[in-house]
Amino acid sequence: MRAMNSFKNKVVWITGASSGIGEALAMAMAKEGAKLILSSRRTDELERVKTSLHLPDEDVFVLTLDLANTSAITTLTQKVIEKYGRIDVLVNNGGVSQRALTKDTPLDLDRKIMEVNYFGTIAITKSVLPYMLQQKSGNIVTISSIAGKFGFYYRSAYSAAKHALHGFFESLRMEIYKDNVNVLIVCPGKVKTNISVNALTEDGSKHNKMDPSTESGTSAADCAAQIIQALKSNQEEIFIGGKELRAIWIKRFFPKLFSKLIRKQKQE
Ligand SMILES: NC(=O)c1ccc[n+]([C@@H]2O[C@H](COP(=O)([O-])OP(=O)(O)OC[C@H]3O[C@@H](n4cnc5c(N)ncnc54)[C@H](OP(=O)(O)O)[C@@H]3O)[C@@H](O)[C@H]2O)c1
Repeated sequence: MRAMNSFKNKVVWITGASSGIGEALAMAMAKEGAKLILSSRRTDELERVKTSLHLPDEDVFVLTLDLANTSAITTLTQKVIEKYGRIDVLVNNGGVSQRALTKDTPLDLDRKIMEVNYFGTIAITKSVLPYMLQQKSGNIVTISSIAGKFGFYYRSAYSAAKHALHGFFESLRMEIYKDNVNVLIVCPGKVKTNISVNALTEDGSKHNKMDPSTESGTSAADCAAQIIQALKSNQEEIFIGGKELRAIWIKRFFPKLFSKLIRKQKQE
Protein backbone atom coordinates (compact mmCIF):
# COMPACT_ATOMS: atom_id res chain seq x y z
CA MET A 1 0.00 0.00 0.00
CA ARG A 2 1.56 3.30 -1.10
CA ALA A 3 -1.23 5.59 0.17
CA MET A 4 -0.95 7.17 3.65
CA ASN A 5 -3.91 5.79 5.56
CA SER A 6 -3.11 7.60 8.76
CA PHE A 7 -0.95 10.47 9.97
CA LYS A 8 -0.94 9.21 13.57
CA ASN A 9 2.61 9.72 14.94
CA LYS A 10 3.94 10.49 11.46
CA VAL A 11 6.73 13.07 11.36
CA VAL A 12 5.67 15.89 9.05
CA TRP A 13 7.96 18.81 8.14
CA ILE A 14 6.12 21.84 6.72
CA THR A 15 7.90 24.86 5.24
CA GLY A 16 6.01 28.15 5.13
CA ALA A 17 4.15 27.02 8.26
CA SER A 18 3.84 30.54 9.68
CA SER A 19 0.79 31.53 7.62
CA GLY A 20 -1.74 30.67 4.93
CA ILE A 21 -1.76 27.18 3.45
CA GLY A 22 1.18 25.98 5.60
CA GLU A 23 -0.50 27.09 8.83
CA ALA A 24 -3.78 25.45 7.79
CA LEU A 25 -1.93 22.24 6.94
CA ALA A 26 -0.21 22.28 10.34
CA MET A 27 -3.62 22.60 11.98
CA ALA A 28 -5.14 19.80 9.91
CA MET A 29 -2.14 17.46 10.34
CA ALA A 30 -2.14 18.10 14.12
CA LYS A 31 -5.79 16.97 14.25
CA GLU A 32 -4.74 13.81 12.39
CA GLY A 33 -2.19 13.02 15.11
CA ALA A 34 1.05 13.95 13.33
CA LYS A 35 4.26 15.22 14.94
CA LEU A 36 5.14 18.50 13.29
CA ILE A 37 8.21 20.46 12.33
CA LEU A 38 7.21 24.05 11.57
CA SER A 39 9.60 26.08 9.41
CA SER A 40 9.79 29.56 7.89
CA ARG A 41 11.77 32.75 8.60
CA ARG A 42 9.58 34.32 11.33
CA THR A 43 10.15 32.45 14.59
CA ASP A 44 7.52 34.48 16.48
CA GLU A 45 4.82 33.52 13.97
CA LEU A 46 5.87 29.86 14.08
CA GLU A 47 5.60 29.97 17.89
CA ARG A 48 2.11 31.47 17.54
CA VAL A 49 1.11 28.58 15.25
CA LYS A 50 2.68 26.07 17.65
CA THR A 51 0.64 27.45 20.58
CA SER A 52 -2.56 27.33 18.52
CA LEU A 53 -2.08 23.61 17.80
CA HIS A 54 -2.48 22.60 21.50
CA LEU A 55 -0.16 19.62 21.06
CA PRO A 56 2.31 18.30 23.65
CA ASP A 57 5.52 20.36 23.47
CA GLU A 58 7.60 17.41 22.25
CA ASP A 59 5.27 16.87 19.28
CA VAL A 60 5.96 20.27 17.67
CA PHE A 61 9.43 21.49 16.71
CA VAL A 62 9.84 25.10 15.60
CA LEU A 63 12.78 25.21 13.22
CA THR A 64 13.44 28.63 11.72
CA LEU A 65 14.80 28.58 8.20
CA ASP A 66 15.23 30.83 5.20
CA LEU A 67 14.78 28.92 1.94
CA ALA A 68 17.16 31.41 0.30
CA ASN A 69 19.96 30.20 2.59
CA THR A 70 20.45 26.72 1.14
CA SER A 71 23.83 26.20 2.83
CA ALA A 72 22.10 25.93 6.24
CA ILE A 73 19.61 23.27 5.20
CA THR A 74 21.68 20.09 5.73
CA THR A 75 22.35 21.05 9.36
CA LEU A 76 18.65 21.80 9.92
CA THR A 77 17.66 18.41 8.48
CA GLN A 78 20.12 16.74 10.86
CA LYS A 79 18.39 18.53 13.77
CA VAL A 80 15.05 17.04 12.70
CA ILE A 81 16.60 13.56 12.49
CA GLU A 82 18.26 13.98 15.91
CA LYS A 83 14.88 14.89 17.42
CA TYR A 84 12.51 12.43 15.71
CA GLY A 85 14.78 9.86 14.01
CA ARG A 86 12.83 9.98 10.73
CA ILE A 87 10.83 12.19 8.36
CA ASP A 88 7.64 10.71 6.92
CA VAL A 89 6.26 13.70 5.04
CA LEU A 90 8.02 16.79 3.70
CA VAL A 91 5.66 19.57 2.63
CA ASN A 92 7.46 22.06 0.38
CA ASN A 93 5.04 24.94 0.85
CA GLY A 94 7.14 28.03 1.63
CA GLY A 95 7.27 30.52 -1.21
CA VAL A 96 6.88 34.07 -2.40
CA SER A 97 4.94 35.49 -5.34
CA GLN A 98 5.65 38.40 -7.67
CA ARG A 99 3.73 41.44 -8.88
CA ALA A 100 5.99 43.08 -11.48
CA LEU A 101 6.05 43.19 -15.26
CA THR A 102 8.94 41.30 -16.86
CA LYS A 103 10.35 44.51 -18.36
CA ASP A 104 10.57 46.09 -14.90
CA THR A 105 11.87 43.05 -13.00
CA PRO A 106 15.63 43.28 -12.36
CA LEU A 107 17.54 40.04 -12.83
CA ASP A 108 18.39 40.02 -9.12
CA LEU A 109 14.67 39.73 -8.34
CA ASP A 110 14.27 36.85 -10.85
CA ARG A 111 17.15 35.13 -9.04
CA LYS A 112 15.69 35.81 -5.57
CA ILE A 113 12.30 34.31 -6.49
CA MET A 114 14.03 31.34 -8.13
CA GLU A 115 16.30 30.96 -5.09
CA VAL A 116 13.41 30.75 -2.60
CA ASN A 117 10.75 28.95 -4.66
CA TYR A 118 12.95 26.58 -6.64
CA PHE A 119 16.48 26.15 -5.20
CA GLY A 120 15.33 26.35 -1.57
CA THR A 121 12.66 23.74 -2.28
CA ILE A 122 14.96 21.33 -4.06
CA ALA A 123 17.73 21.84 -1.47
CA ILE A 124 15.49 20.75 1.39
CA THR A 125 14.16 17.86 -0.71
CA LYS A 126 17.68 16.64 -1.49
CA SER A 127 18.64 16.83 2.19
CA VAL A 128 15.60 14.79 3.29
CA LEU A 129 15.73 12.29 0.44
CA PRO A 130 18.55 10.01 1.77
CA TYR A 131 16.56 9.42 4.98
CA MET A 132 13.36 8.56 3.08
CA LEU A 133 15.28 6.23 0.76
CA GLN A 134 16.84 4.51 3.77
CA GLN A 135 13.42 4.20 5.45
CA LYS A 136 11.98 2.85 2.19
CA SER A 137 9.00 5.12 2.76
CA GLY A 138 8.07 8.75 2.56
CA ASN A 139 5.91 11.39 0.94
CA ILE A 140 7.14 14.61 -0.61
CA VAL A 141 4.45 17.22 -1.21
CA THR A 142 5.30 20.27 -3.28
CA ILE A 143 2.99 23.24 -3.51
CA SER A 144 3.25 24.53 -7.04
CA SER A 145 0.46 26.67 -8.53
CA ILE A 146 -1.68 26.99 -11.61
CA ALA A 147 1.15 29.41 -12.49
CA GLY A 148 3.23 26.22 -12.77
CA LYS A 149 0.97 25.26 -15.69
CA PHE A 150 0.70 28.60 -17.51
CA GLY A 151 2.26 32.06 -17.30
CA PHE A 152 0.34 35.15 -16.26
CA TYR A 153 0.76 38.93 -16.08
CA TYR A 154 3.23 40.19 -13.44
CA ARG A 155 4.42 36.70 -12.56
CA SER A 156 7.19 35.77 -15.04
CA ALA A 157 9.76 34.79 -12.37
CA TYR A 158 7.17 33.16 -10.11
CA SER A 159 5.65 31.18 -12.96
CA ALA A 160 9.12 30.14 -14.17
CA ALA A 161 10.07 28.87 -10.71
CA LYS A 162 6.80 26.93 -10.38
CA HIS A 163 7.23 25.42 -13.88
CA ALA A 164 10.76 24.35 -12.89
CA LEU A 165 9.37 22.52 -9.86
CA HIS A 166 7.24 20.34 -12.17
CA GLY A 167 10.28 19.24 -14.18
CA PHE A 168 12.26 18.47 -11.05
CA PHE A 169 9.56 16.62 -9.13
CA GLU A 170 8.22 14.63 -12.10
CA SER A 171 11.74 13.33 -12.72
CA LEU A 172 12.28 12.62 -9.05
CA ARG A 173 8.92 10.83 -8.79
CA MET A 174 9.89 8.19 -11.32
CA GLU A 175 13.38 7.75 -9.87
CA ILE A 176 12.16 6.99 -6.35
CA TYR A 177 8.95 5.09 -7.09
CA LYS A 178 10.71 1.75 -6.49
CA ASP A 179 11.84 2.98 -3.06
CA ASN A 180 8.25 3.56 -1.92
CA VAL A 181 8.73 7.31 -1.74
CA ASN A 182 5.86 9.29 -3.30
CA VAL A 183 5.72 12.74 -4.84
CA LEU A 184 2.53 14.80 -4.79
CA ILE A 185 2.44 18.07 -6.73
CA VAL A 186 -0.31 20.46 -5.65
CA CYS A 187 -1.48 23.22 -8.01
CA PRO A 188 -3.71 25.69 -6.20
CA GLY A 189 -5.58 28.34 -8.12
CA LYS A 190 -6.81 31.11 -5.82
CA VAL A 191 -6.53 30.44 -2.10
CA LYS A 192 -7.40 33.11 0.43
CA THR A 193 -4.03 33.83 2.08
CA ASN A 194 -1.57 36.72 2.22
CA ILE A 195 0.21 35.52 -0.94
CA SER A 196 -0.55 38.73 -2.90
CA VAL A 197 0.17 40.95 0.12
CA ASN A 198 3.61 39.33 0.49
CA ALA A 199 4.35 39.23 -3.27
CA LEU A 200 7.47 41.13 -4.36
CA THR A 201 7.31 44.15 -6.67
CA GLU A 202 10.05 45.36 -9.02
CA ASP A 203 11.94 47.25 -6.29
CA GLY A 204 11.91 44.22 -3.98
CA SER A 205 9.28 45.69 -1.65
CA LYS A 206 6.01 43.94 -0.80
CA HIS A 207 2.93 44.44 -2.99
CA ASN A 208 0.95 44.95 0.23
CA LYS A 209 -2.42 44.46 -1.47
CA MET A 210 -4.96 41.70 -1.16
CA ASP A 211 -5.95 40.88 -4.74
CA PRO A 212 -9.77 40.64 -5.05
CA SER A 213 -9.52 37.20 -6.71
CA THR A 214 -7.35 35.92 -3.83
CA GLU A 215 -9.77 37.41 -1.29
CA SER A 216 -12.61 35.42 -2.84
CA GLY A 217 -10.56 32.23 -3.25
CA THR A 218 -10.81 28.81 -1.62
CA SER A 219 -10.14 28.87 2.13
CA ALA A 220 -6.73 27.70 3.33
CA ALA A 221 -8.47 25.14 5.56
CA ASP A 222 -10.30 23.65 2.57
CA CYS A 223 -7.05 23.61 0.59
CA ALA A 224 -5.32 21.76 3.46
CA ALA A 225 -8.16 19.22 3.68
CA GLN A 226 -7.84 18.49 -0.04
CA ILE A 227 -4.06 17.99 0.27
CA ILE A 228 -4.56 15.51 3.11
CA GLN A 229 -7.19 13.68 1.08
CA ALA A 230 -4.79 13.50 -1.88
CA LEU A 231 -2.09 11.96 0.33
CA LYS A 232 -4.57 9.42 1.66
CA SER A 233 -5.55 8.42 -1.87
CA ASN A 234 -1.98 8.54 -3.22
CA GLN A 235 -2.55 11.17 -5.90
CA GLU A 236 0.38 12.40 -7.99
CA GLU A 237 -0.96 15.81 -8.94
CA ILE A 238 -4.00 17.78 -7.81
CA PHE A 239 -5.63 21.11 -8.66
CA ILE A 240 -7.37 23.12 -5.96
CA GLY A 241 -9.64 26.06 -6.60
CA GLY A 242 -12.71 27.20 -8.47
CA LYS A 243 -13.41 28.30 -12.01
CA GLU A 244 -9.84 29.55 -12.51
CA LEU A 245 -8.84 25.86 -12.89
CA ARG A 246 -10.69 25.69 -16.22
CA ALA A 247 -7.75 27.54 -17.79
CA ILE A 248 -5.55 24.44 -17.34
CA TRP A 249 -7.84 22.25 -19.42
CA ILE A 250 -8.47 24.94 -22.03
CA LYS A 251 -4.70 25.35 -22.46
CA ARG A 252 -4.17 21.60 -22.78
CA PHE A 253 -6.85 20.99 -25.41
CA PHE A 254 -7.24 24.41 -27.12
CA PRO A 255 -3.92 26.25 -26.76
CA LYS A 256 -4.74 29.06 -29.21
CA LEU A 257 -8.11 29.75 -27.62
CA PHE A 258 -6.35 29.74 -24.24
CA SER A 259 -3.94 32.45 -25.41
CA LYS A 260 -6.81 34.67 -26.51
CA LEU A 261 -8.83 34.19 -23.36
CA ILE A 262 -6.02 34.51 -20.83
CA ARG A 263 -4.84 37.81 -22.36
CA LYS A 264 -8.25 39.29 -21.59
CA GLN A 265 -8.26 38.25 -17.92
CA LYS A 266 -8.14 40.98 -15.30
CA GLN A 267 -4.50 41.89 -14.67
CA GLU A 268 -4.05 41.78 -10.91
N1 LIG B 1 -2.64 31.53 -2.00
C1 LIG B 1 -2.71 31.23 -3.27
O1 LIG B 1 -3.62 31.67 -4.01
C2 LIG B 1 -1.68 30.30 -3.89
C3 LIG B 1 -1.90 29.86 -5.18
C4 LIG B 1 -0.98 29.01 -5.76
C5 LIG B 1 0.13 28.61 -5.05
N2 LIG B 1 0.34 29.06 -3.79
C6 LIG B 1 1.56 28.62 -3.11
O2 LIG B 1 1.24 28.21 -1.80
C7 LIG B 1 2.38 28.32 -0.98
C8 LIG B 1 2.00 28.97 0.35
O3 LIG B 1 1.61 30.31 0.12
P1 LIG B 1 0.37 31.00 0.86
O4 LIG B 1 -0.67 31.19 -0.14
O5 LIG B 1 0.06 30.31 2.12
O6 LIG B 1 1.00 32.46 1.14
P2 LIG B 1 1.56 33.17 2.46
O7 LIG B 1 0.49 33.29 3.47
O8 LIG B 1 2.25 34.39 1.99
O9 LIG B 1 2.61 32.11 3.01
C9 LIG B 1 3.89 31.97 2.48
C10 LIG B 1 4.74 31.20 3.47
O10 LIG B 1 6.05 31.03 2.92
C11 LIG B 1 7.02 31.43 3.89
N3 LIG B 1 8.20 31.96 3.22
C12 LIG B 1 8.27 32.99 2.34
N4 LIG B 1 9.55 33.23 2.00
C13 LIG B 1 10.30 32.30 2.67
C14 LIG B 1 11.70 32.04 2.76
N5 LIG B 1 12.60 32.78 2.10
N6 LIG B 1 12.11 31.03 3.56
C15 LIG B 1 11.22 30.29 4.25
N7 LIG B 1 9.90 30.49 4.23
C16 LIG B 1 9.45 31.50 3.45
C17 LIG B 1 6.30 32.49 4.72
O11 LIG B 1 6.83 32.56 6.04
P3 LIG B 1 7.89 33.64 6.61
O12 LIG B 1 7.48 34.98 6.09
O13 LIG B 1 7.77 33.47 8.09
O14 LIG B 1 9.23 33.19 6.10
C18 LIG B 1 4.89 31.92 4.79
O15 LIG B 1 4.78 31.00 5.85
C19 LIG B 1 3.41 29.10 -1.81
O16 LIG B 1 4.37 28.21 -2.34
C20 LIG B 1 2.59 29.70 -2.92
O17 LIG B 1 3.35 29.92 -4.09
C21 LIG B 1 -0.55 29.90 -3.20
